[in-house]
Amino acid sequence: MSGFAPLPKPVPAISEVDFLKFKDFFYRRTGINFEMSKRYFVDKRLMERIEKTGTKDFRGYFTLLRFQASGEELQQLTNLMTVNETYFLREDYQFRCLVSSILPEIVRHRTVKSPIRIWCIPSSSGEEPYSIAMCLLENWSGIREWDVEIISSDIDTGILRRARAGRYSARSVQHVPVHWLKKYFKAAGEDYQLCSDIRDAVEFTRVNLSEPSETLSYRGFDVIFCRNLLIYFDDVSRTAAAETFYEAMNPGGFICLGHSESMSRISSLFKVRKFPEAIVYQKGLETK
Ligand SMILES: C[S@@+](CC[C@H](N)C(=O)[O-])C[C@H]1O[C@@H](n2cnc3c(N)ncnc32)[C@H](O)[C@@H]1O
Repeated sequence: MSGFAPLPKPVPAISEVDFLKFKDFFYRRTGINFEMSKRYFVDKRLMERIEKTGTKDFRGYFTLLRFQASGEELQQLTNLMTVNETYFLREDYQFRCLVSSILPEIVRHRTVKSPIRIWCIPSSSGEEPYSIAMCLLENWSGIREWDVEIISSDIDTGILRRARAGRYSARSVQHVPVHWLKKYFKAAGEDYQLCSDIRDAVEFTRVNLSEPSETLSYRGFDVIFCRNLLIYFDDVSRTAAAETFYEAMNPGGFICLGHSESMSRISSLFKVRKFPEAIVYQKGLETK
């Protein structure tokens, strides 16, 4: 026996043609549009999954991706391709707007005492919907009178598991006021564990916003938060997302986007509402 270590298995390369085939397929399935500049990011993940699944090369792997009946490999790959950056109280001026302007307007127009429904998509690891739950409890007096349902969705099943677990790093909670930290979190080693009262206030579901059959049952929302997702879409998938939101909302419902996203550039379905705290978009009270 020689003393040499075995040579590492050659890593299959992804050609430009393969990249473009994959880009087109992934865009049609998820709405996510990878520019050529993202090639290194995409190729690295594809190669990782080719090795893990033992499919040898791009061709074999792409066949598995497209034709596997369970769709499990597509889900695994999607979990690797998503960018999950988020933290508690991100762009918190919108939460102030929710409490001071949006909810008061919604309840003013409400004739029946039905629950106020909020859809937060994408949830990523849960910091955004949990921030909303805490802001309502701490700052909205209407919470004593009105039932609020918060449903939060993401395409990534791995990140949804983390959202439900509610365990966060110091970085993730760095903008949470100390008295909220004491009230709603427990130390868990170097991390922070969110209490079950807040965790139970949010229902997490797996939804692909770009798959119409998956959003069909999402209806009757008064407020939608869709922040920092449309930046990964192109104009066509953004417009489709706007139409999905329109269908999902009650007349007079509001939608909040991330600071670099604008509904006016995407669709004319919503009107712009300028509140002192933030600019948001609203579905008309009179709808077709
Ligand atoms: C940058 S995070 C935004 C999280 C949070 N809304 C925020 O602003 O902090 C983007 C999330 O979008 C999710 N995502 C990407 N494509 C999606 C799709 N087609 N449907 C639903 N969620 C998607 C990703 O899994 C990721 O968790």
